[in-house]
Amino acid sequence: MNLLVTGGAGFIGSHFVLRHVAQYSNDRVVVLDKLTYAADLSFLDPVKDRIRFVQGDIADSSLVKSLIEEDRIDAIINFAAETHVDRSISDAAPFLHTNILGIQSLIDVCRAHPKTLLFQISTDEVYGDLRDGDRPKTPDDPLLPSSPYAASKAAGDLLLLAAARTYGICVRISRCTNNFGPHQADEKFIPTVIRSALAGGPIPIYAQGKNKRDWLYVTDHCDALEMILAKGEDGRIYTVSADAERENIAVAKDILRLLQKPESMLAFVTDRPGHDWRYALDSSLLRSMGWKPQVTFEEGLERTVEWYGGKK
Ligand SMILES: NC(=O)c1ccc[n+]([C@@H]2O[C@H](COP(=O)([O-])OP(=O)(O)OC[C@H]3O[C@@H](n4cnc5c(N)ncnc54)[C@H](O)[C@@H]3O)[C@@H](O)[C@H]2O)c1
Repeated sequence: MNLLVTGGAGFIGSHFVLRHVAQYSNDRVVVLDKLTYAADLSFLDPVKDRIRFVQGDIADSSLVKSLIEEDRIDAIINFAAETHVDRSISDAAPFLHTNILGIQSLIDVCRAHPKTLLFQISTDEVYGDLRDGDRPKTPDDPLLPSSPYAASKAAGDLLLLAAARTYGICVRISRCTNNFGPHQADEKFIPTVIRSALAGGPIPIYAQGKNKRDWLYVTDHCDALEMILAKGEDGRIYTVSADAERENIAVAKDILRLLQKPESMLAFVTDRPGHDWRYALDSSLLRSMGWKPQVTFEEGLERTVEWYGGKK
């Protein structure tokens, strides 16, 4: 296959590119990335001679069109997004640009190339939050986003589903729970805890740290995406989860234990406005197709702490 990986110099996209090039050496991989603060092109150094890298914006439809035509692209895997909830609360404009107008631009290009698959990497946050005891969300559940980030991702998903029906373009959507691992931008929760602890604290924790997230190690997410790419069906939504929910405070304490740092470094700060309490997704469809996480939370956290400069 010839793949266009958009946002491939960010956290999850870079892991996807590294693994895909290693596993499918005959495939052509083109990476398009705007190189925002969240990107680091050096993540792709190990494969830089085996891919084509182009700096640019997914909202630039003439650029995307030229890449699809020059490289005869079979599938676009779209990781490109503005992703940090706190930034979206301060200024939603970049989120609307990339996560909505950027998606429409990809749709417009695919209308002229209806055989090209448009595979959107979405998020559990589009469903809004769950209370304790609520059942995990499935692809059929309604969307009820809480933050400008989540609302922009939900809008992107809806535009894609509408385009599949109206224009008949080939679309797949995956929605995943929280990822963790190397390459994640410093401002996200786990890198913040590790870096703050290594710097001697304090470690900011929203409210009492009781909000729950379901953490999936990033390479397990990439494996799920490969399965959807290889065996998925057009027009379908796939939900991906680790089924390993943890309170934020428990994750922070695990990191402190690995770094042998005291819990007195934890500093409780005013909660994020609209902070979602809990996310949970039903991944039984993917599991019935043969996917399951390979990396336990504990193993993944050790690898992550080590990558950010902490000792095991
Ligand atoms: N990180 C998670 O926990 C998580 C969980 C579920 C879903 N997701 C989804 O996965 C995708 C990737 O997330 P991530 O954590 O790797 O994000 P990230 O913020 O680390 O990386 C995003 C990448 O997109 C690029 N980018 C941003 N705007 C662009 C534009 N207009 N054109 C081209 N490139 C652009 C950035 O430069 C960066 O390389 C996102 O769509 C996100 O919603 C993330």
